[in-house]
Amino acid sequence: MPGNGNIILTGFMGTGKTTAGKALAVRLDRRFQDMDDLIEEGAGLTVPEIFTIHGETRFRDIESQVCRDVAARSDLIVATGGGALVNPENHRVLAESGTVICLSATPEQILERIRNETHRPLLDLAPDNRLARIRALLAERDERYSSIPLQIDTTDLTVDQIVDRILTLVSDGTEAEVPSPHPAVPGTNGSLQVLAVDNPEGSYPIWTGSGALAATGRLLRQCGLEGVKVAVLSNPDIESLHAAGLVDALRADGFDPWVFTMPEGEQHKTLETARRLYSDLLAAGMDRRSPVLALGGGVVTDTAGFVAATYLRGVPYVVAPTTLLAMVDSSVGAKCGVDLPEGKNLIGAFKQPVGVLLDPDLLDTLPPAELRAGMAEVAKHAILGDEHLFEMLMHAPATPAADWLAAAVQVKIDVVEEDPLEQGRRAILNFGHTFAHALEQVSQYTIRHGEAVAVGMMAATHLSVQAGLCSPSTAQRVRSLLTGLGLPVRVDDINSAPDLSGRAGDLLAAMGTDKKRRGAVLRFVVIEDLQQLTVIPNPGDELVLSAWEHILN
Ligand SMILES: NC(=O)c1ccc[n+]([C@@H]2O[C@H](COP(=O)([O-])OP(=O)(O)OC[C@H]3O[C@@H](n4cnc5c(N)ncnc54)[C@H](O)[C@@H]3O)[C@@H](O)[C@H]2O)c1
Ligand SMILES: [Zn+2]
Repeated sequence: MPGNGNIILTGFMGTGKTTAGKALAVRLDRRFQDMDDLIEEGAGLTVPEIFTIHGETRFRDIESQVCRDVAARSDLIVATGGGALVNPENHRVLAESGTVICLSATPEQILERIRNETHRPLLDLAPDNRLARIRALLAERDERYSSIPLQIDTTDLTVDQIVDRILTLVSDGTEAEVPSPHPAVPGTNGSLQVLAVDNPEGSYPIWTGSGALAATGRLLRQCGLEGVKVAVLSNPDIESLHAAGLVDALRADGFDPWVFTMPEGEQHKTLETARRLYSDLLAAGMDRRSPVLALGGGVVTDTAGFVAATYLRGVPYVVAPTTLLAMVDSSVGAKCGVDLPEGKNLIGAFKQPVGVLLDPDLLDTLPPAELRAGMAEVAKHAILGDEHLFEMLMHAPATPAADWLAAAVQVKIDVVEEDPLEQGRRAILNFGHTFAHALEQVSQYTIRHGEAVAVGMMAATHLSVQAGLCSPSTAQRVRSLLTGLGLPVRVDDINSAPDLSGRAGDLLAAMGTDKKRRGAVLRFVVIEDLQQLTVIPNPGDELVLSAWEHILN
């Protein structure tokens, strides 16, 4: 690699510089640096503020200085601002410090990728016609961008594929410096895919693939943890099935694993359990560097995350989910917590893990009913954000999890990254859940969450049709997906459900206590089309009752 080995990703906004840069940094175990962040830190203002207060010329001056600063450092993965290399001098300075790669994408894809961003000063000049503005800016910059020898068109590529291509370009001319794109995992026959989750506290990797659990030690080392005690938290059933392999792998990697268990069942997701675990961890001499590693379903991961967030004011947290629900739902978003007698999940925290291991092999021992319940959340992700996943599940509903797990998780990553603190768009992840929570409550939690979500999604879809927002044919597609996956679409389809005929009024009343409310107004996630969900205020009791009756009768 020329110079001192920085890898500099440049190109227009929305071409994947930051996302791919972060994933590349995880892959190479190097530091990621976003140049716009440096500019903002230096100026004490956001990029839009610099544009507004000082104008673009001043911004470009600061940017040139930051290019020189970055070029003076080494071993960085750098994402430049979209216009940074339009100035040939910036290009020259950075090219001397490493390999410069220009990412590109079609204007339509760029628009799609930045669809929900409101802080793009150069596009805000034409807020009503961003596509035209993108085309115009691309034309202006085309000559400079295309003068960069190394190019990757990122249109339709996944983050992982972009990283693979970057590594190929970088390694042409460097040989041994770059590790293989998919690190081989000891004791397994497959390679692991790395997904990156960006959050307000930084970024963490999700290693996914067959055998991921055996790579736990390597993941911990990448997170800067070496040789420490590890508190593995599980329940006795899961411990007997899956802890031994994990413990052996950790020992082989030089760690000192200790296994602690909590009793099986939601009724033990409590402060009492957490309190007992604090004492167990103290007695075992777990200190602030000892990670808590959750090995279990959502009950274990919620409790373990809460313990990790609070023990000694917080210790590193690693998640190895063992149920499908926990894999696709609880491993991204950082929510954790325990129940009170007054209600579920009333005490908790946002605890970002340092890393997540998604090993589909663990699902082999999961009871079929649990697997099916988890499929409801997978279906939800396909409906709200991934048409390929939707088609795949429609046509081959029984394909193994390894084929679609990463895609299902990526949908949640995308939504949560847009809205890490749950202020807006993340609400669409609650599709079907306003109904599901009421149904779970009135059924006194005798039904599985996933079953309630499947039926809840049918209710929300019916409501969308009745409100004139969605076509009956879309509703039919949702229904076909759910039934194809063996999921219930009416309350009667759920074996353990109590007889709720004639109880639509009670279910409506139960929705009033759903905590996903904003002010006094209950909000509903509705579907306009596949992969097009939105949130509306309460459309009125009549429509909501009709949705309940639809799934009750
Ligand atoms: N934090 C979040 O974002 C989030 C999201 C969704 C749900 N949750 C929480 O998750 C919990 C539900 O989680 P769940 O559905 O995973 O249930 P669970 O944790 O109760 O697990 C279901 C059952 O499967 C068993 N099990 C787990 N993994 C197994 C395996 N690999 N082989 C054999 N048996 C296995 C468990 O012992 C348990 O009996 C609820 O408490 C819910 O509130 C949290
Ligand atoms: Zn859910």
